[in-house]
Amino acid sequence: MIRLLIRQSHQSAVRITRVSTTYLTYQAKTMATDARPKVFVTRRVPARGIDLLKDKFVVSQWDREDRIPPEELLRGVKGVDALFCLLTDKIDKDVLDAAGPQLKTICTMSVGYEHIDISECKKRNIPIGFTPDVLTNATAELTMSLLLATSRRLKEAMTAVEDGGWGTWNPIWMLGHGLDGATVGIVGLGRIGLAVAKCLLPFGVSRIVYSGNSQSKNEQEVNAEFVSFDYLLEHSDFILGCCSLTANNMGLFNAEAFNKMKTSAIFVNTSRGGLVNQDDLYNALKSGKIAGAGLDVTNPEPLPTDSPLLTLNNCLVLPHIGSATEKARSAMSELTARNIIAVFENKEMPSRLNIS
Ligand code: DGY
Repeated sequence: MIRLLIRQSHQSAVRITRVSTTYLTYQAKTMATDARPKVFVTRRVPARGIDLLKDKFVVSQWDREDRIPPEELLRGVKGVDALFCLLTDKIDKDVLDAAGPQLKTICTMSVGYEHIDISECKKRNIPIGFTPDVLTNATAELTMSLLLATSRRLKEAMTAVEDGGWGTWNPIWMLGHGLDGATVGIVGLGRIGLAVAKCLLPFGVSRIVYSGNSQSKNEQEVNAEFVSFDYLLEHSDFILGCCSLTANNMGLFNAEAFNKMKTSAIFVNTSRGGLVNQDDLYNALKSGKIAGAGLDVTNPEPLPTDSPLLTLNNCLVLPHIGSATEKARSAMSELTARNIIAVFENKEMPSRLNIS
């Protein structure tokens, strides 16, 4: 009797059904009469978000770790009520048209949203959810890792150990630049810029300057000074790109900007690759215009393995892992799901993008 009850409850439980080699659908057995809204998830993501969604929605998912091809995205969104997407998905008019007029929300598992056609969503009155805050500390930590690794020449040092370049201890070998007493320039004192500034203080930096569209109300927390972009470039020992990418700051870090930096400057970018003119960065690094660069983001991503930047020993490139901690990615997945759920429960999204 007990066995029978267990079997029955298993049969009525939500099941995972493989409907093709690439899609997973989490659906009730009675799919045809299922009145629950449909959500499409564009990638395999940490389970937390899916677990929250699958009781309340019919969830279909691109069940792979690689990026969904555009034609599969168009197929997957057809007729859904909500879209759970990533920063690698281009969400444009074609995708919105393919989805159909019933689409109620687009929620991206990222803090960046430049991959979404905001004005098209605005026109159609589609609210957008995103995931700020939950990845701030992880990204600040990675920014610090990259800053320290670049300024203390870890790439070169590790290569020397591996290829026999390590001779005797040498007082004038592999010298880098420390943070103690340095001036750090942060381009964009938003959530992540501010968190990085807090990490910097215990290293004994003498000054934190920042630039951006407007003065930050949080500057006093880290004793930061609002300066012009040019001033920041000219006076900083370390220059950190922490602002979001917009149409106005594409290629902001170009030859003109690198020429204004100190020859000892270290440039770090953990925001978006589009902020940087990579040819100009290569020339600046190669010619010694600046001392080093650490990039967690590039344009394109992945960076082709024959990129000239990878031939430089004063350029350290990471594969966009700023938020890649178990905790942050799980929280991002959860927040994306909560944003979606809120829309269907007629509640405020926990993190709605302001697109007014
Ligand atoms: C984001 O969320 O936009 C980040 O770039 C991913 O960590």
